[in-house]
Amino acid sequence: MATRLPSAWKDELLARTDIVSVVSGYVTLKKDGRRYWGLCPFHNEKTPSFSVNPDMNMYYCFGCKATGDAIRFVMEMERAPFMDAVKILADRAHMSMPELQDDPDYERRRSQRERLFAANRDAARYYHDTLWKPEGKAALDYLHGRGLTDGVIRRFGLGASTNQWDDLTKYLIDKGYSQEELNLAGLTVVKEDSAYDMFRSRVIFPIIDQYNHVLGFGGRAMQKDAKPKYLNTADTPVFNKRKGVYAINLIRKSRDLKRIILVEGYMDVVAISQAGVTGAVATLGTALTNEQARLLGRYAPEVYLCYDGDEAGQHAIERGLDILEAEGVPCRVIYLPDGLDPDEFIRQRGLAAFEDLQPMRPPAYRMQRLKLQYDLSSQDGRTEYAKKCAELLRTVRDPVDLENYLESLTVQTGFSRDVLLAQVGAQTAGKDTAAALLPQREQPARERRARRPDGYKTEQTLLSLLATGRLPKDMVKETDFHSETLRLIAGRLIGGETPDAIVSDEDLTDSERQEAGEAFSLLTGAEIDNAAEVAGDCLRKMRIAHLQQEMNQLTESLQTLDGEKKLQMLTEIQGLSKELEQLKQQGR
Ligand code: UTP
Ligand code: MN
Repeated sequence: MATRLPSAWKDELLARTDIVSVVSGYVTLKKDGRRYWGLCPFHNEKTPSFSVNPDMNMYYCFGCKATGDAIRFVMEMERAPFMDAVKILADRAHMSMPELQDDPDYERRRSQRERLFAANRDAARYYHDTLWKPEGKAALDYLHGRGLTDGVIRRFGLGASTNQWDDLTKYLIDKGYSQEELNLAGLTVVKEDSAYDMFRSRVIFPIIDQYNHVLGFGGRAMQKDAKPKYLNTADTPVFNKRKGVYAINLIRKSRDLKRIILVEGYMDVVAISQAGVTGAVATLGTALTNEQARLLGRYAPEVYLCYDGDEAGQHAIERGLDILEAEGVPCRVIYLPDGLDPDEFIRQRGLAAFEDLQPMRPPAYRMQRLKLQYDLSSQDGRTEYAKKCAELLRTVRDPVDLENYLESLTVQTGFSRDVLLAQVGAQTAGKDTAAALLPQREQPARERRARRPDGYKTEQTLLSLLATGRLPKDMVKETDFHSETLRLIAGRLIGGETPDAIVSDEDLTDSERQEAGEAFSLLTGAEIDNAAEVAGDCLRKMRIAHLQQEMNQLTESLQTLDGEKKLQMLTEIQGLSKELEQLKQQGR
């Protein structure tokens, strides 16, 4: 890690961070004994083996051995780099990032952001509550008329703004927000000294980010010809339509999402979610940006583009593919026929038909688009088309895929496979294939676990007791451990490092961290209450094992000796045996 946080600052952050509540944001936890348990977010399971230990500020999964502290947990869940995870936790803990701590303007901006988030949250509640009141009836009727159930309306927190000038503004001023805060949040506009609500007589879609902050709103007019059809919150200190993604808050909660489906509009997201499609999101009335592509790439292994079937939608798909590919996010296209949008398609043809649509890979989709530009009934048209396709096929690095594309191109253009292949090759000459443009997802190499020596379990228990910090100083020495990794970890604990720091230390290998996590998570409450006594037991067992081993070795070498030397050895063995007996006596 290039950047190091000041350690006192990091200690304070971790001290102020309750790992149980951080994890609870992602995993439902239940207390049992001293620990909390839940279904592991890092592997698939039906019974909980994921534990959070508030005493040690760490988590450990008994199934997949994932382990670490709160920072590491956020890094994994959000697929965020270290500093981003730190920032998320710092925001939670209301701490300023260390390098900016002395910047009063940063502090001011941070607390302002918190106020705007709060105002937006109160506004979202207000809009949602209004929906169920007489003032919201028109909006509710509209949503029902579009086929939405109350369940999905609640899930997305949809709402209604009234037809009055300043209902929301008055409500929020009453709650203690200043006029300036409401203007900044884009909830109110001031014209000629009067304050008006930004949204009036609209159905409201709250836009919520992956950390559950309400960033802003989209408001749909209810009359057919009202302009604009959708009114979105303008950019504010907390909302940037080029960064946000609608419904990302729901994506973050779904486990094991195979793909995200990116659609054009709010209504599509809500409608297809109701139909049973998972993983739907939308951008906020703008073309996909690199930033949004990266964000999506964090939440699923693939992104499917499913824009409206009209020309505008199809053109946007091509640009979307460019962006996703540039960001190294694996992507495909769900092509909707007859100019339909996803909502209309499912309404007309049903969910099964939607799920039957084969997602197309980018080259196949691009070939389909190119085909529209050329007249394949003419030789010139076929030639140009073949050349253009060859150009895009140079990005295909899988030979089997390439063969399939070449085959369909042969059928379409009449050029032989070899000629087409030569054309593809001509394009690649001197250049790297686009393989390099598509980085493979990093697969953490699971190191093979070293064979565990006899008595490993006892050493683990001792290490675990050492980690509780409840043992008398100097009771345990590094050299008491025979397992190499456990000895290394013991040395660090004795040197003053905390367990949570060890399980999240990037300088250790994964298997070392896992071994530490496993050992630290071994103890029962009773063992912790009697830490010193149990540790004494472990040490005795370990010394017995050690003596036994030494005796065995000596006894073996006895056969090769004779005379004086043999006698010496025998005395030595007797000595050890006596010591061994004494140790065993102590145990009774
Ligand atoms: P659409 O016009 O396709 O809306 O615009 P839609 O999702 O099908 O909505 P319904 O079904 O008519 O209610 C797609 C997206 O473009 C943005 C919005 O984000 C919308 O969801 N948009 C559209 C605007 O921001 N302003 C507009 O006036 C129109
Ligand atoms: Mn549409």
